[in-house]
Amino acid sequence: MIKEKQLRFQIQTKSTTYLFEVTESGHLKHYYYGPVLSEKDAENWDISSSVGWGCALLYRQDDPSSSLHTTPLEWSGSGCGDYRESPIELEDADRVLTTDFRYVSHKIYSGEEPRHFLWPRAEGAEETLEVCLSDPEIAMDLHLYWSVFDDVICRKAVLLNKGNDPRYVRKLMSFCVDFSGEYRMMNLHGDWIREAHTETAPVGYSRIVNESLTGFSSNQHNPAFAVMTEQTTEWSGDAYGFNLIYSGNHYASMARSSANLTRIMQGISPANFRFELAPGEALETPDAVMTFSAEGLNGMSRNLHEFVNNSLVPAYWRYRERPILYNSWEGCMFDFNERKLLGLAKEAKRLGCELFVLDDGWFGTRNDDTQGLGDYNVNMKKLPHGLTGLAERINKIGLQFGLWFEPEAVNENSDLYRMHPDWVLQEPGRKPLQGRNEYLLDLRMECVRDYIVKSVSDVLDSANITYVKWDMNRHSNVLGAGSMEYVLGLYDVMHRIFDPRPEILLESCASGGNRFDLGMMTISPQIWASDNTDPMERLYTQKGLSYFYPQSTMGCHVSASPHMQTMRHSEMETRANVAFFGDLGYELDLDHVTYENKKKIREQIKFYKQYQRIFQFGTFYRYDTDENHEQWQVSDGDCSFVGVFRRQVSAAPGYEKLFIYALDPEQEYHVTTRPQNVNLSTVGGSINLLSPIKINPNGPLFYVADHRIHITAASEDRTHTGRALAGGFVPVPLFAGSGYDGRQRLVGDGGSELYVIEKTGK
Ligand code: GLA
Repeated sequence: MIKEKQLRFQIQTKSTTYLFEVTESGHLKHYYYGPVLSEKDAENWDISSSVGWGCALLYRQDDPSSSLHTTPLEWSGSGCGDYRESPIELEDADRVLTTDFRYVSHKIYSGEEPRHFLWPRAEGAEETLEVCLSDPEIAMDLHLYWSVFDDVICRKAVLLNKGNDPRYVRKLMSFCVDFSGEYRMMNLHGDWIREAHTETAPVGYSRIVNESLTGFSSNQHNPAFAVMTEQTTEWSGDAYGFNLIYSGNHYASMARSSANLTRIMQGISPANFRFELAPGEALETPDAVMTFSAEGLNGMSRNLHEFVNNSLVPAYWRYRERPILYNSWEGCMFDFNERKLLGLAKEAKRLGCELFVLDDGWFGTRNDDTQGLGDYNVNMKKLPHGLTGLAERINKIGLQFGLWFEPEAVNENSDLYRMHPDWVLQEPGRKPLQGRNEYLLDLRMECVRDYIVKSVSDVLDSANITYVKWDMNRHSNVLGAGSMEYVLGLYDVMHRIFDPRPEILLESCASGGNRFDLGMMTISPQIWASDNTDPMERLYTQKGLSYFYPQSTMGCHVSASPHMQTMRHSEMETRANVAFFGDLGYELDLDHVTYENKKKIREQIKFYKQYQRIFQFGTFYRYDTDENHEQWQVSDGDCSFVGVFRRQVSAAPGYEKLFIYALDPEQEYHVTTRPQNVNLSTVGGSINLLSPIKINPNGPLFYVADHRIHITAASEDRTHTGRALAGGFVPVPLFAGSGYDGRQRLVGDGGSELYVIEKTGK
């Protein structure tokens, strides 16, 4: 709900209030964003100083409190006494322009405002406030927007050139706001196979910037960030979440001013940005997303997860369960033929998978990553019955069929490049650089977009394809507004291909999580989180992403051990326990999986299927843990799953205490553990503590037994109230080298347990 009284605006979400007003000089003064305020509080809330401050320039000589530098603002300009970073920078042909936008009018729309540009956006806003500002000196108007969703506010800016000469936009943020007080910023950094690690830093008087300059939302700096206080934990305290519905170069900054105001802004990166705004034209920013929770980071995540699941992902896929898939990449790479694929598909079906995904290598001369990219004609040597025939055979086995593409890129060694070298994204006079032997196609060119739409659509219509993995493996450093225009081109292509085919499940991928962003999610309900499937590494990546994105958006696969990137060994059960907290898939050569491990996979899939809705759409909680542990929970209110993951065990652990929150304190719950087996090789020679005959842990008998016999770890089975479980209970002890009688948990380094907590109804 949005209310206005004497130019004081009150934006009310389900559990927050946002307050600002128009000052006498026409600027927008920010007052408050936090827990719901009463009507009276909202009317009286004030932040003001009636006297001037130190070196402040006064906006009006007759008003000592009129310095813009010491006013908390909803937007600011340059050159009028606010020395803080400005969200807007403009030039005309000759000079940098002073900007000073002041209130002219406002409007409250039910639902969304009429749109200007083509940015992807969330659907289903309750109301939208538009405030129109103007700077007559430079003949420009600025319209600012606040759209209300359940517990999220979307903001954006639209700049209009009302003059007779072109203007050049060097910077236009989606929003800017000044909070009073001291904060910390948490953001996600990383690289390929090390995506979404968190970093938290106090915001001081020097500016902190979270920015991507790779052309994409990037695995180096995800656009999402959290703002919190020193006291904020996963479960309590103030937590603000911010994000941008955009897939290109982005920018966010925070800095504290000398007056103790913390300025926050976010938008398209201004680095090397220059956009010509012709007379009469408008430039619209992508939407920024903001939320607040007084229930800590878990509360912030809940608001953002609900927003994505309810309003952001394509309508067809909202709360629709994602199929359990088998992907051919890690098992086969480029080396496969129809026989191999059908063998894998049969096995995947036997294990319980629902969808078979053929990854890279099915077209042109794509037998390695140096060639063929761009030529989407089926390799008939590998697939003699074509995709149509393969899809039919896979469907007959009882699986859906999905396919990999990388439509934005091209190898130099490809027919497409030989025919159209000019289609490559490049600067006149400079040779473009390659990454993974690829150039990017210039999606700003209409003929390129038409080519991609046609070639991908033709393939999709040639066979029964119900899933697409859309990959992109090369950064871009195109400068100017070119990066933004590329992203617009990409959205255009994807909409033209997938809007008419809403039932195709699109999983976006960019060398893993290089484009894990809200812009992609408006088209692609699921995103491949990382090429790294080592469960210990995935704990970092999935946890980092979980702050801002729901489990339903995260592709999470079980792969082989030792892991191909870290060479780390892991238990099959831990690999699954981590992957359960997302969209489960399997990605390993099933011909090389032991009989015992296949049995485990079958059990894992059966279990996941039973609770798929909760794992994909349930409320997600992280626990405050030390660096050796992670504890995650998903819940639908009646049933919860708690994963406890351990990076390293310590000797003689003694009794542990486990706390389980987010349960009804008055209700009774039955707590069990998903039954787990460990390999003989995990316990090694200690098996002789149990075995009636002595087995040499390095001998052939042990090797054979390792593939056939597994040891069952102790399981929990207890009933307690939610209150007791939140107070902490002592689970069965950990194995500590002093004997094993079946009542110890066998959890080594990298071990895990999955607790199942169900209401008994008593
Ligand atoms: C990227 C993706 C992988 C796989 C390969 C295929 O690395 O992230 O999942 O699809 O490309 O070349």
